[in-house]
Amino acid sequence: MKIGFFDSGIGGVTVLYEAVKLLPGADFIYYADTKNVPYGPKAKEEVFNYIAMAMEFLVSHEVDAIVIACNTATSIAIERIRSKYAIPIIGMEPAVKPALENVRGTDRSVLVTGTQLTLKEEKLHNLIARLESGNVVELLPLPGLVQFAERLEFNSEAVTAYLKEQFARFDLENCDTIVLGCTHFPYFKDTIKELVPAHISIIDGSIGTAKNLKRIMEQRGFDLAGKKTITFYNSGVEADCQEQAKFDKLFARLRMLDEKMKP
Ligand code: DGL
Repeated sequence: MKIGFFDSGIGGVTVLYEAVKLLPGADFIYYADTKNVPYGPKAKEEVFNYIAMAMEFLVSHEVDAIVIACNTATSIAIERIRSKYAIPIIGMEPAVKPALENVRGTDRSVLVTGTQLTLKEEKLHNLIARLESGNVVELLPLPGLVQFAERLEFNSEAVTAYLKEQFARFDLENCDTIVLGCTHFPYFKDTIKELVPAHISIIDGSIGTAKNLKRIMEQRGFDLAGKKTITFYNSGVEADCQEQAKFDKLFARLRMLDEKMKP
């Protein structure tokens, strides 16, 4: 069983990490569009063209399913991509539903973070309208985190200063949940946790997406046993040893965060 993963950059590795835990016998191909990251500030049609190229690449490698491990790409392209290919295309959207289920009263708020494109898109606004429950859903774009993550800068004074400044605009005492609606953001979970009031839950869609992938592959009768392989590509070019080491580092960071953030 071969599964294609796609993100504008290293963000989707946060989802791949969870998928490898649930499907340790699969072959994974990870396409990071490092030439064109970040997607968040770009025009929708430009980003759509990058996504379409990545899909063609993954399909030409005969993957059995594709995970669009990118909220931005999902929000602008998932329907168009699904209508083009017969294989399962698994997308992700900000975890607004579980966040609203977690609120402690109708006057409480939820803070949804993401890229500019995701937060602007109709898909998210329709989702919020559908789930309308009297709670306040506030939106906060954090494009700076995408840039920090791509530089592998996860714990620095600059990251802390950036997040502090962004959060200062909100009444976090009244907020119950922060949704990490961009796959680049879970790398910063430890710093975010330190900066916000202790009662706030921080949630993201990585585990849910990995579970969804496993369920779909089981339903389709794929053999889940085998020997795991992961091949990384940067905008279609296979990662060399040095770049491969970068992905190993990201897995190590996610393992560390798993340990550190244990409830
Ligand atoms: N990782 C992405 C997401 O989940 C996109 C980040 C970007 O390229 O701006 O939205």
